[in-house]
Amino acid sequence: MTHTIKFAGVNFNRNGVLASGILGVTGSSMIKTAQGGAGGITCKSISKNFRKGHPTPVLQVFKHGVINAVGLSSTGVDNSNNELRNVKNNSDAVVIASVFGGTEIEFKETIEELDSSVYDIIELNISCPNVADEFGHAFANSPHSASNVMRIARSATNKPIIVKLSPNYPNIGLIAKACEDAGADGITAINTVGPGMLIDINTFQPKLTNKVGGVSGPAILPIAIRAVYDIYKAVTIPIIGMGGITEVEDAIQMIAVGAQLYGVGTGILYHGIDIFNTINTGIDEYLREKNLQYDDLVGIVHKQ
Ligand SMILES: Cc1cc2nc3c(=O)[nH]c(=O)nc-3n(C[C@H](O)[C@H](O)[C@H](O)COP(=O)(O)O)c2cc1C
Repeated sequence: MTHTIKFAGVNFNRNGVLASGILGVTGSSMIKTAQGGAGGITCKSISKNFRKGHPTPVLQVFKHGVINAVGLSSTGVDNSNNELRNVKNNSDAVVIASVFGGTEIEFKETIEELDSSVYDIIELNISCPNVADEFGHAFANSPHSASNVMRIARSATNKPIIVKLSPNYPNIGLIAKACEDAGADGITAINTVGPGMLIDINTFQPKLTNKVGGVSGPAILPIAIRAVYDIYKAVTIPIIGMGGITEVEDAIQMIAVGAQLYGVGTGILYHGIDIFNTINTGIDEYLREKNLQYDDLVGIVHKQ
């Protein structure tokens, strides 16, 4: 889709978004992905300080997707400021800075240390299985802790803030509503599912050194579609829908259940960065065939 879309008050020239964690560390890979048709670029989640992440292997491909335990490695705020500035100056894509912290205060401090001129939107990654609150759960697993992070982050910036949710909590609509009530401007859903595990049948060891990791790719598409369907019913703020999208039909389903923008991460491993141009062209053709406007398609499932 090549028309301008206003999402959380920000104009996107194209409706596909690069998901956090894939090609999102260096400015040059993010610029190339924008050239491949992404209208929004989300960087890999940034922590205040450098984080090493988990020992390799951290990623395994299986028949229907990927399992990863990158463990939120981060080059820290200073380096991220430089890489994001490069993207901002050299592409027309909306820059989404994904941030995470081990505590609510760390989220706030990370946002405060980011140069506000290098991003358009903050995305709070409260949903990675590896980022736990003091009770050992992802912040996205309780309405209370999710809204706390959102409220504290709100005080750190005037830019729009969107919250990235996990499908691992059964009532994702409830969490989305708590974030909306705490001031969120949008929701991104979903993060990886799980954790999951794969076993090497020669060594009888888990294939990942971390033993478990988040599942992404085609295997999780139906879970992502259901999650966005539930969120759309629960909130009025806009949604970036992602999880398992590898082709145009997947993206159309995601928009039809209520996503204003679609996101792709693992799909890039299958089809390269041109996946965005392919899907965008496919959506345009579909709308022409059906004689629909883009806005009619967003959430159309709920209007039947
Ligand atoms: C290797 C890898 C690293 C990821 N790192 C992050 C991350 O740093 N922050 C985040 O919010 N999500 C991260 N994700 C989750 C993706 O952004 C996305 O939500 C998820 O993979 C589902 O979309 P997909 O099936 O299109 O990949 C990562 C996913 C993968 C596969």
